[in-house]
Amino acid sequence: MILIVDFGSQTCHLIGRRVREMGVAVEIVQPEEALIKIRQFQPTGIILSGGPSSVYSKEALLVDEKIFDFGIPVLGICYGLEVMGHLLGGKVAPGKKREYGPTAFSLKKDSALFADWGKNKKKFTVWMSHFDQVVRPPKGTHIVGSTSTVRVAAFADEKKKLYGIMFHPEVHHTEYGGEILKNFVMGICQGSPLKGKRKISEIKKYIKDKIGKKKAVCALSGGIDSSVSAYLAYQVIGKNLTCFYVDTGLMRKGETEEIKDTFKNKLKLPMVVVEAEDDFLKALKGITDPEEKRKAIGETFIRVFEREGEKIGARILIQGTIYPDVIESKGTEHAQRIKTHHNVGGIPTKHGFKIVEPLRSFYKDEVREIAEELGFPKDLVSRHVFPGPGLAVRIIGAVTREKLDILRRADEIVVEEIKKAGLYNDIWMAFAIFTGVKSTGVAGDERKYGETIALRVIESKDTMTADWVRLPYELLARISERIVTEVFEVVRVVYDITTKPPATMEWE
Ligand code: XMP
Repeated sequence: MILIVDFGSQTCHLIGRRVREMGVAVEIVQPEEALIKIRQFQPTGIILSGGPSSVYSKEALLVDEKIFDFGIPVLGICYGLEVMGHLLGGKVAPGKKREYGPTAFSLKKDSALFADWGKNKKKFTVWMSHFDQVVRPPKGTHIVGSTSTVRVAAFADEKKKLYGIMFHPEVHHTEYGGEILKNFVMGICQGSPLKGKRKISEIKKYIKDKIGKKKAVCALSGGIDSSVSAYLAYQVIGKNLTCFYVDTGLMRKGETEEIKDTFKNKLKLPMVVVEAEDDFLKALKGITDPEEKRKAIGETFIRVFEREGEKIGARILIQGTIYPDVIESKGTEHAQRIKTHHNVGGIPTKHGFKIVEPLRSFYKDEVREIAEELGFPKDLVSRHVFPGPGLAVRIIGAVTREKLDILRRADEIVVEEIKKAGLYNDIWMAFAIFTGVKSTGVAGDERKYGETIALRVIESKDTMTADWVRLPYELLARISERIVTEVFEVVRVVYDITTKPPATMEWE
């Protein structure tokens, strides 16, 4: 797949069409989202289109220069070449004369971009449309071709697979334009997707740049996102990192013990457990509004961390925020807030920490891939997502110790049965919800007015959408039967058959 960054070129879609004609998929993206899309799509090559801007103007459209660090081949066309020249240490300046239309191009040096036919055709007609030009090629590149007015009409760094051409290969009038694009897409770009190892070194570099030699604390939730963040941070900053696991009292049955065992014995990551159940229940007392709950939890978390961070003199907090958390909490400019994920929008703005989120631009499946690459235990890699605010967002209405206890017992049955049926690894999440709806039942000839538990079993790939799982009836029956007999307070079990959208995965 080729990712095309659109700098506003009139012919951007035409580049896409030419690539598609070779049977290769294309994704056209805006410059400001280029980095995130590279991580999402893992393209085999990147094309920077032309565009009307000037790289040295105040409003210049540019890309994050990290896009050149992935080892993915890049081809800059016209303005795209100027962007490369500007960001990679060359020099761009206004030309002496505007150049539009046909120009004679002379090939000065062999290059993979002009391979095969280029040897015999040292001079051919290309179409240009520019005023600025690169006057000094970027570091590590050499001039491959010139025109009578543009000395740097093509440059290349064959080792890093970075190429820039001043003319438009996508337009019909450029001689050999199709061959040039084909050399790039089918030749140069073969087999260079952004794999796990490369993502790991990128994340480590990010952590090093952000934290350096300072002390940091990391909030471990027991989930894969914070575990990967902490693990990589530990590899980079070592003893300067202290990991905390806050036992909020909102965890599932046996979870705290499991987490302690994983970090201590399997990942060998030093961890401090902070008992804070009372703090959280106090903060949640009487709150029924979902957003208020999330904010109360976020606030309590940060205060606990401030307290612990102060003890060791750490002012940096590492969190396992991933991209869907950011977007659903309105972390991008045009997105609406769906819910306040505690590790993004839910924490109060005033606190004593600088927040570092190494996985902020990654999706869950990418984080799992990284965890596998790091050799994490299988049960941790495939562990279902559990929200930061824990069971508090699975209890409708005010949160109390009694409700938590009922929900924990019902939830354990759901997960146990799903595992027994061999379905755990195929689905995104399976959990119980304390609906807060009381209904009438009958037990042993007596009226029993009790709780209603809902089941939510869903599959998803990227968090943004989800479908409910068509569980076998026998399995549903077994779960229901076990809950109403083993969890005495419950008289009714219902199955949530709603997709996301319009529902979200969690009920709150
Ligand atoms: P929703 O309910 O928004 O959930 O469709 C999408 C995924 O995100 C998890 N989730 C959270 N994770 N902090 C987290 O770390 C949160 O505040 C939070 N809220 C929801 C949810 O479990 C699901 O997998």
